[in-house]
Amino acid sequence: METELVYAEEEMANEAISKAVKYLEAGDVVALPTETVYGLGANALDADAVVKIFEAKGRPSYDPLIIHLSSREEIHNYCDLSPELDEIVQKLIQEFWPGPLTMVLPKKDIIPDIVTSGLPTVAVRMSGHPIMQEICKAFGKPIAAPSANRFGRISPTSAGAVLKELDGKIPLIVDGGACNAGLESTIIRVEVGKNNPEFHLLRAGPVVKEDLQKIGKVIRPKKLTERARKMLMEKAPESSSDTEAMQAPGMLESHYAPETPLYFFDKPEDFKPEEGKIYGLLSYRGQDKDGYMDLHEWDVIEELSPGKGKLAEASVRLFHMLRLLDESGVDAIVAEPAAETGLGVAINDRLRRASQRS
Ligand code: TXA
Ligand code: MG
Repeated sequence: METELVYAEEEMANEAISKAVKYLEAGDVVALPTETVYGLGANALDADAVVKIFEAKGRPSYDPLIIHLSSREEIHNYCDLSPELDEIVQKLIQEFWPGPLTMVLPKKDIIPDIVTSGLPTVAVRMSGHPIMQEICKAFGKPIAAPSANRFGRISPTSAGAVLKELDGKIPLIVDGGACNAGLESTIIRVEVGKNNPEFHLLRAGPVVKEDLQKIGKVIRPKKLTERARKMLMEKAPESSSDTEAMQAPGMLESHYAPETPLYFFDKPEDFKPEEGKIYGLLSYRGQDKDGYMDLHEWDVIEELSPGKGKLAEASVRLFHMLRLLDESGVDAIVAEPAAETGLGVAINDRLRRASQRS
């Protein structure tokens, strides 16, 4: 299959949007820009179209997808919300939509099982990217879209990165420029709670804990049980109760991984270079005092936020820099941690997962 790349900048936007909608209507998959990372979209109400997402990514069918809505109001068409839950959801929507917050909520029957891997909940978000919004509006149905990378690999933050991941596997990539958040959306499971709304943090992301705490209590997930972990790594769960027990199927340890081994240490001293191996450093801000720059004769150094170190800048550049290091020919990458606050929590989460090999 030939993969076509269409620009969606300014005067070319309309043509790109109608082309994308045509493919979606025909039950095909299309790579689409969002403010977080590029997504691989298909009609969320058409199980046959959604199957193509799993095929193109090589993604196991027990890992559910996020659906993207065209308006805030639409949520009631796809989610089954009690009045109490709706009140909380509306507050979150007012504060964070359109934007990088995904909510896991009880689903309505109209959402096919393949989208949710048989779970009774569905993950929903409304993207803040203008092109994605236009496509959602013009298409008129929810768009199921995971990140547009091969399963387990680094999420693409540019159309070029999508092409590297999925060339020949999908018919169309809509180029809407570089993603301006650069990290996948924050995912929470929203619950009414006893006294306060409860947000179970399934994936850290651009909407940080401190933002969410204005509305409710943020609960960090328990570590996966060994049984759930095995199911995730080795095979599909046997029953839907197994799937439910996993809570967050996407919390696979090994994820966001470059082809090149990546090391993420608790402290710089834990790094013990092997003789004859070539190492690259992913530095947070390129400062000696952080303990990594002078640790070794690095062959390549990439900096996430040169100078002072700004977490927002580091987030935007993270996946791009990881790709550069991956392509640089080093034998292994060592990643420096960012400060563990705000966006740094999500950055460190991705680096930690990238360091786990399955
Ligand atoms: O920023 C993003 O969220 C991007 C853009 C394209 O929107 N999408 C994205 O999708 O990162 P994906 O599929 O790579 O990650 C979605 C995660 C998966 O780890 C999946 O397991 C989890 O969301 N998920 C989806 N539905 C769920 C559900 N009902 N319950 C728990 N986790 C769910
Ligand atoms: Mg992904």
